[in-house]
Amino acid sequence: MAEEAEILVSHRIAVLNGPNLNLLGEREPEIYGRTSLAEIERDTNELARALGVQCTWIQTNHEGELVEAIQNLKGSADGAIINAAAFTHTSLAVRDALLAVRVPFVEVHLSNIFAREPERRRSLLADLAIGVVTGFGADSYRLGFEALARYLDAVSHPSR
Ligand code: DQA
Repeated sequence: MAEEAEILVSHRIAVLNGPNLNLLGEREPEIYGRTSLAEIERDTNELARALGVQCTWIQTNHEGELVEAIQNLKGSADGAIINAAAFTHTSLAVRDALLAVRVPFVEVHLSNIFAREPERRRSLLADLAIGVVTGFGADSYRLGFEALARYLDAVSHPSR
């Protein structure tokens, strides 16, 4: 009985988006595509429903707000999808927040950061992530979300 109840508890995944991602769709479409963040959010929510996962969504242009959103993951989310955008390459504060909360996360990027300018080829977060999905446009979110949901399933039901 207890086991049955446990199976019914769904995973909670928070999707965190950093600076300038609110401009997706109009911002450098040759690099980031024409899909808006609202469309990615809608598709992600649909996927979450299909997978039976609870999903929350945040976008901020401010480093401190992203740090606070990461701090708030503790106790409120089982895992996170994080596109820290430019902070990926610069922010020790975001890295420190991830080290502090130790919530499993997948780093996602629309563009392939390793095929871009040298300063974008380095991520201050990637070694803390379960994995990185980079270069598949809006699909990076779907791929990252599915991978994280599977990961959370595997860690919560290791015998399956
Ligand atoms: C990005 C890549 C970053 O280098 C850039 O600063 C972004 C978006 C991506 O999703 O491809 O804002 O994270």
